Amino acid sequence: MTDNRQANKENDVMCHCSGTTEGRITALIDNKINDLDSLSRMTGACSGCGSCETSILELLANYNG
Ligand code: FES
Repeated sequence: MTDNRQANKENDVMCHCSGTTEGRITALIDNKINDLDSLSRMTGACSGCGSCETSILELLANYNG
């Protein structure tokens, strides 16, 4: 159950403007891309309407511990 929930979460789209998934963001964070500007440049997230910024910043804060 937990594995399925985790897999579904990774496929959740965090940025609808660019189609960037949570899994894509966390994979980049795992590879030391851990600031919003870099994540935005590499994925296109936060380069449209900007409404995903808060959720991506929260993910960054939580994922970095
Ligand atoms: S939802 Fe990410 S820029 Fe619009």
